[in-house]
Amino acid sequence: MGIISQRVTSMAVSATLAMSKKSRDLKSQGIEVVDLSVGEPDFNTPDFIKLAGIKAIEDDFSHYPPVAGFPDLQQAVCTKLKRDNNLDYKSNQIIISNGAKHSLMNIFMAMIDPGEEVIIPSPYWVSYPEMVKFVDGVPVFIETTQEADFKISPEQLEKAITPKTKLLLFNSPSNPSGMVYSQDELNALATVLAKHPEIYIVSDEIYELIVFDTKFESFAQFPFLKDRMILVNGVSKGFAMTGWRIGYIAAPAEIAAAYNKVQGQMTSAASSIAQKAAVTALLKAPSESPDLHDMVTTFKRRRDILLEMLNDIYGFKTIKPTGAFYVFPEVSALFGKSFNGRTIESGDDMADFLLEQAHVALVGGNSFGNANHIRISYATNTDKLVAAAKQIKAAVERLK
Ligand SMILES: Cc1ncc(COP(=O)(O)O)c(C=O)c1O
Repeated sequence: MGIISQRVTSMAVSATLAMSKKSRDLKSQGIEVVDLSVGEPDFNTPDFIKLAGIKAIEDDFSHYPPVAGFPDLQQAVCTKLKRDNNLDYKSNQIIISNGAKHSLMNIFMAMIDPGEEVIIPSPYWVSYPEMVKFVDGVPVFIETTQEADFKISPEQLEKAITPKTKLLLFNSPSNPSGMVYSQDELNALATVLAKHPEIYIVSDEIYELIVFDTKFESFAQFPFLKDRMILVNGVSKGFAMTGWRIGYIAAPAEIAAAYNKVQGQMTSAASSIAQKAAVTALLKAPSESPDLHDMVTTFKRRRDILLEMLNDIYGFKTIKPTGAFYVFPEVSALFGKSFNGRTIESGDDMADFLLEQAHVALVGGNSFGNANHIRISYATNTDKLVAAAKQIKAAVERLK
């Protein structure tokens, strides 16, 4: 009998957090590292939201909130879903948690029995398979290609479905690919799901507000799917509020009640102060938020600058993402090349090489389900991005 449970022993360490640590270790040795591994906006929370947090402290919101969240925040989520997505939800269908990551884990605990399958399009966010395995569920991956814009086809979805399929875990805009599904593409996939009424759809919409030259679309728009949708969203990315830790689900009432039971035993409610700040954030329409507009415009400009520079690096093949703040270049053309006796065989090797030789921290694609790629976050300022791209180019040129 080991000290640490089998469950945790077999769990992978979050690759993104591991790379942040490696980068911090180098920094502590006095080496200047450009960190492009992070998954959070470099912007600070807008002032009008910060003030709401301060007011909540002054107004003594210092007690336990209801497990599902303050009623005014549940209502603010309903208002947001109607205003931005034309979706009708009632407060008892909304549960507030400590970030969308927590929301996802609660869903899996509330819905997955051992051996039940969760379909996950690949590349995927690193935590999905680990969370599913933690509750003894079985991740079933659908591989996509860069040529298909990292999107799954209806045929692939149909083929992945078995009698054990419980959930489709969907993420658009995607981390790590930055791809955004169009309404037509969702419609084609929805036609497959219509034939399988027993499958629920978990839609991770955390990057909803960060889209460029395209429109965010959700499976929830199809009335025949709405009753089996579990929407996951939060304020972390779109409102630059990662540290406040507020996420939420919108789901059929029966699922929300089971989820509430889990949360009641495991964590209770999310922070009272952060919830009050989130009310203020959500009640502002995205179209009326200059902070959001500036952030998205800035991300778009950075994406374009970074893409142009990456396209100039030998062996890098990158398609243009239309959402989130990541690019996911293919680097397999460089596999087999070496530097100082070390051969690059995977995206993870490339990430290690670039950290050591270019002093740029980014994340290898292995733990996103595609070892031919690396993930670069452009949630950092343009000067740093330009410096990083130059350093990457110089290091790659040293590979023989
Ligand atoms: C795809 C995806 N889902 C969920 C999350 C978690 O967000 P939160 O900060 O709300 O827990 C992240 C954060 O990186 C993410 O990339």
